Amino acid sequence: MKIVTKIWEIRQEIQKATNKNNTVGFVPTMGYLHEGHLSLMRAAKAQNEIAVASIFVNPTQFAPNEDLEKYPRDLERDASLAQKAGVDLLFVPAVEEIYPNGFNTYIEVCGDITSKLCGKSRPGHFKGVTTVVSKLFNIVLPDKAYFGQKDAQQVAVIEQMLRDLNYDIETVVCPIVRESDGLALSSRNVYLSEQERKDALILSQSLLEAEKMIQSGNQYVHQIKDFIWENIRSAKSATIDYIEIVNTKTLEDIDTIKGDVLIAIAVKIGKTRLIDNLKMEVL
Ligand code: PAJ
Repeated sequence: MKIVTKIWEIRQEIQKATNKNNTVGFVPTMGYLHEGHLSLMRAAKAQNEIAVASIFVNPTQFAPNEDLEKYPRDLERDASLAQKAGVDLLFVPAVEEIYPNGFNTYIEVCGDITSKLCGKSRPGHFKGVTTVVSKLFNIVLPDKAYFGQKDAQQVAVIEQMLRDLNYDIETVVCPIVRESDGLALSSRNVYLSEQERKDALILSQSLLEAEKMIQSGNQYVHQIKDFIWENIRSAKSATIDYIEIVNTKTLEDIDTIKGDVLIAIAVKIGKTRLIDNLKMEVL
């Protein structure tokens, strides 16, 4: 695996690697890698000749009051994990490489898709995500890009951007990787205290219970929402940001549990904001 920090360098490496019709699979990340990230990297390597990953803690997707400064970082460990997962090229640019002095162009997907759910409590977040992802796509020129279902809204927003801007890139969405007790893996899980780690289980447990309610025939959105709400409130350190039930692709509200259903939740456990979701196809 080669680690590169400059845009000209990664472009050169990719050009060298792709002159034999090789396809490029790309995994953008913010690092502090865990099994969730690694599952995307393994998929990228399995489905392409060249697997490229990036590690860049993107300042434009953090609000001033958020955790940009203390976001966990460990490049040495990340590089070794990425290599084992099959990554050929690891792009680790500095902030000035991506946002040089005078940078002043942003990509923003407008409308409900970015203003509800996480967009509501994190205004400007998705503008930062789409700006950096579109820059990374222009630099890496991948055939396929790999994203996790963990960030369901991010997937919907990026797919909208790809359609709207005529990007010739296929997205591959990989399932949520969880700890054995159900907690969705996240780089932010390291912020949790021992007690909070226990309380954090309330997210996945509530979604599992909701899934059972739906499987046994309950189609009432408000009943499912109320159930999750009450359940999560029982955890002492939990503050609910949102519990939404929407169409998986458009993120539009739905009246009954039917079709492509996404139950998306965001909950603060102590000071740590966690998200989780459940995707179901209901006949
Ligand atoms: P980051 O949070 O590092 O996540 C990188 C990728 O890993 C995303 O596609 C995310 O959905 C996926 N991922 C995270 N946890 C996962 C889990 N438990 N199971 C499966 N996949 C998981 O998402 C970002 O970075 C940034 O917004 C980025 C797209 C890199 C733009 O800066």
